[in-house]
Amino acid sequence: MRTARLGLGTTVPFLFLTLLLWAGQPTPASPGTLPADTQQTARDDHPRPDPSRIHRFDRQEIRLEDFTADGYVLDIGGGGEGVIGQLKPRQVVAIDLSARELLGAPAGPLKIVMDATDLKFLDATFQTATSFFTLMYMSEPDQGRALNELHRVLVPGGRLLVWDLVLPARFDPVKDIAVVPLTIHLPDRQIETGYGTFFPKEPHGVGYFRDLAARAGFEIVGERATDRTFFLELRKPDARTAVLK
Ligand SMILES: C[S@@+](CC[C@H](N)C(=O)[O-])C[C@H]1O[C@@H](n2cnc3c(N)ncnc32)[C@H](O)[C@@H]1O
Repeated sequence: MRTARLGLGTTVPFLFLTLLLWAGQPTPASPGTLPADTQQTARDDHPRPDPSRIHRFDRQEIRLEDFTADGYVLDIGGGGEGVIGQLKPRQVVAIDLSARELLGAPAGPLKIVMDATDLKFLDATFQTATSFFTLMYMSEPDQGRALNELHRVLVPGGRLLVWDLVLPARFDPVKDIAVVPLTIHLPDRQIETGYGTFFPKEPHGVGYFRDLAARAGFEIVGERATDRTFFLELRKPDARTAVLK
């Protein structure tokens, strides 16, 4: 992902401000006066929020092991670093709202501009789908819509793997933006990045996402969490299991 230095000792995704729009939140009226090392460069024409609005959490380490998957893997929000596409370049179909983010992602996956809340794939197309720090960029209603769509396009018995942030509700009257620097360890390389979004009104812990996933019809198969990130392995029940329940 093209990254922008915020002068916070970390790099933050280039789409930092546009993500605020996706989250359905008001963008800052003015980015204010930023320190010299946060000024925009020719490579970075996005406006920036005033740094006083940003709460920066401690750096998190994510270890991403390769996972088995048959056929295509649908990765929603697969632009930017395109982490899942880096892991499985020949299998991933990366969809993203932003052509620019897809263009910025490493080559390999099939890249398609598409909204995860309105997928254009037929029902039961994929055996595996992923969301790598993408749900955090959506409004709460859109998170639910995207999970419903992912459930629809997965085959019965198909898996959805979700990595995302654990965020508390906003706790500071000035700081409304949460930034989490991440070191992502892939089997053969390491990626330094960071993701930011508005603080939610209510805490977004793993339980919040578990409930959303259950409402979309998923079973929870596995779960791991650190203080600031989580991984959920979800499964669309197959017809036989669903009848037995
Ligand atoms: C910062 S990236 C997340 C990390 C990315 N998966 C990676 O590997 O670097 C979040 C992406 O989600 C995309 N996005 C946000 N809302 C979306 C939606 N409704 N449908 C598809 N993509 C969306 C954004 O365009 C952005 O590229």
